[in-house]
Amino acid sequence: MTAAVALRHEVFCVEQGVPEWEELDGRDQEGIHLVAVADDRLLGTCRLVHFGRTIQFSRLAVRADARRQGIATALLALADEEARELGAKRLVLHAQTYALKLYENAGYRPRGRAFVEAGIEHVAMEKTVG
Ligand SMILES: CC(C)(COP(=O)(O)OP(=O)(O)OC[C@H]1O[C@@H](n2cnc3c(N)ncnc32)[C@H](O)[C@@H]1OP(=O)(O)O)[C@@H](O)C(=O)NCCC(=O)NCCS
Repeated sequence: MTAAVALRHEVFCVEQGVPEWEELDGRDQEGIHLVAVADDRLLGTCRLVHFGRTIQFSRLAVRADARRQGIATALLALADEEARELGAKRLVLHAQTYALKLYENAGYRPRGRAFVEAGIEHVAMEKTVG
């Protein structure tokens, strides 16, 4: 958990300039944190938070030197499995628009217009848990 939050800090706050108060939104204790680990090194993380039968997917971050190797795609697939096991009906997320294809490839569809969150353009996306 400490390593996951440290990676999020490095990626969102240092690399992308998101304010720390916005990155740490107080929901970490209620979340399920998925991680990708190799050789004792945490390479990626994301978080699932339940709202009834909907699960919000967020905080997807992959270490800069481990990108474009399918780690985010694997975390999205694992999130699907978790959601199924938890009996959820829907997964929702706010995608940074530059990464839209990542989520479309994982079966998410955009919903509504782009908006700015934490100073970065996003679009809401969702998928039904199959
Ligand atoms: C976005 C991020 C999580 C992707 O992680 P990753 O492990 O590199 O992603 P994958 O290797 O699974 O990528 C799968 C596909 O997603 C798309 N994709 C991934 N990174 C992309 C990028 N920087 N620009 C455009 N498309 C991208 C591509 O279609 C890619 O397939 P390809 O490599 O065959 O072209 C990672 O770049 C990251 O941590 N970025 C900073 C934080 C961030 O933006 N988080 C997402 C918040 S919505």
